[in-house]
Amino acid sequence: MAENRKAIGRRVAIVAGLRTPFCKSGTAYRDLTALELGKAVVAELLARTELPGNQIDELVFGTVVPSIAATNVAREIVLGLNLPKEVEAHSVSRACATSIQSLTAAADSIALGRADVAIAGGAESLSDIPIHVSKPLARALAAASRAKTLTAKLDGFRGIKPNDVVPVAPALAEPTTGLTMGESAEKMAKENGIPREAQDAFGHRSHSRAARAWAEGRFAGEVMRLPVPPRFSETVAEDNIVRKEGTLAAYAALPPVFDRRYGTITAGNSSPLTDGAAAVVLMAEEKAKAMGYAPLGYVKGFAYAAVDPGWQLLQAPPFAVNRALERTGLSLADVDLVEMHEAFAAQVLSNLQAFASKRFAQERLGRSEPLGEIPDEKLNPNGGSIAIGHPFGATGARLVTQALRELARSGKGLALLSVCAAGGMAAALVLERE
Ligand SMILES: CC(C)(COP(=O)(O)OP(=O)(O)OC[C@H]1O[C@@H](n2cnc3c(N)ncnc32)[C@H](O)[C@@H]1OP(=O)(O)O)[C@@H](O)C(=O)NCCC(=O)NCCS
Repeated sequence: MAENRKAIGRRVAIVAGLRTPFCKSGTAYRDLTALELGKAVVAELLARTELPGNQIDELVFGTVVPSIAATNVAREIVLGLNLPKEVEAHSVSRACATSIQSLTAAADSIALGRADVAIAGGAESLSDIPIHVSKPLARALAAASRAKTLTAKLDGFRGIKPNDVVPVAPALAEPTTGLTMGESAEKMAKENGIPREAQDAFGHRSHSRAARAWAEGRFAGEVMRLPVPPRFSETVAEDNIVRKEGTLAAYAALPPVFDRRYGTITAGNSSPLTDGAAAVVLMAEEKAKAMGYAPLGYVKGFAYAAVDPGWQLLQAPPFAVNRALERTGLSLADVDLVEMHEAFAAQVLSNLQAFASKRFAQERLGRSEPLGEIPDEKLNPNGGSIAIGHPFGATGARLVTQALRELARSGKGLALLSVCAAGGMAAALVLERE
C-alpha cells in the first residue's frame, strides 16, 4: 500500500464554504428532501461568491441514505438550479465522511488538471428516509406491474400476510456485524474503558462551545438562513439542536439508549439524527487568484483508512490521521486546530485515547511514539456534531468551512480534520491557510 505518497499536481484552493442551519430530523425541514437542501445551499453559495455557472467544471455531491427519486443527487442539483447543462456531476457515498469524499474527488480533478473550478458537498434528510416494503409484498407488486389482466394482477397478492404489508424502515446497522452505530459505540466505550461521566462532560462541552460560537457570531458567515419551501413563511436562521442553557447535571439523568441496562450512551452524549446540507467551492490556486478570489485555505493532504468493523467500528481515525500526517510531513503537534467529527462522545474519547497511546502506536500504527495528545483548546473549539447535529452527507463539508474560518479568526495556519465513518472507515484532511 502506498503509505508516503506525496501530494501531486496543482494546489487546490477552498474559496468559500457554506451550510444550511442543521435541524433535528422531523422538525423544521421535515418536508424537505436532501436534494432540496442541497440545491438551497449550492444556490446560496453561488450567489454569495458571484461565481458564474459557466465557470463550474464539475459538481460532486453525496448523501448517505440514498433517495430513489434522485440517485445522482449531484446532477439533479445542477439541473434543478438551471446551471449550464454542461456542468458534469457525480455523486459519492462514504458514510459520515461523504462530503470529505466529494471534496477530495473534486480536489483530485483540480490537482490533475481535469477541472479548474468545482463545487463539492453533501446533504442529508433523515426526515425523508426511504421506507421499504417486505420482500413478499415487493414481489407481488412487481408481478402485478407485469401482469396483463386484472385477475393476473390480483393473483400475485394471494398469500400476502398482514405482516407483509408493514413498512420496513432502514436500520442504522452495520450489515456485517448487525450492530447499530450506537451499539458499536457502546462496545468501544466498554473495551476502552470510557466512563459515562467523561462522555457526559464531552457532550456538555460540545453544546457549550457551539452555544458560545452562535452567541459570539462565529457561525454567522458560514451558515445561511433558509426560508423553508414550499410556503417560505418560516425562515430557519440557526441550528436547532444546540442547547444554550444546558447543565452538566442534566446529562447524568438521561437513560442509556443502546444498552439500557449496562450502557453509557445517551441522547446527550450522541450526535442526533439531523437534516441539513453543506458545500464548498474549490479552485486551482491560479484560477482562484486570476478570478480575484481570496481563498479561505488550501488542501495540503488527506488520507482514508479502514479497520475491521467487528473490532471497533469508529476507531479508524488514528489510522487515517497517521497516514495523512505522514503524507504531509507533519506531526500532530504541528497543527493548530483539530476538528473531529463527534459521532458519539465515546468515539471521540476512544480516538483521543488511541492518539495518545504508545501501545496503540506500536501495536497498531507501526510507530515507536504515539501520535500525541491534543490540547483541549485546539479540539473542536466551536463545538461539534453532538451539539451542531450530524446530517451524514453534510458533516464533512461543515467541518472544512468551520475549520478554515476558525483558522482565520484565530490567525493560525494548519488544521487537521478527522471523521469516523460506518464500515470501519475514516478520513483525515489537512488544510492550510496562508
Ligand atoms: C441517541 C438517539 C437514539 C436519541 O434520540 P431521541 O430519543 O429522539 O433523542 P431526543 O432528542 O428526543 O432526546 C431524548 C431525551 O433526552 C433529552 N436530551 C437530549 N440531549 C440532551 C442534552 N444534551 N441535555 C439534556 N437533555 C438532553 C431530550 O430533551 C429528551 O428528553 P425528553 O424525553 O424528556 O423529551 C438518537 O439521537 C440517535 O440514534 N443518535 C445516534 C445517531 C447515529 O447513530 N449516528 C451515527 C453516528 S456516525
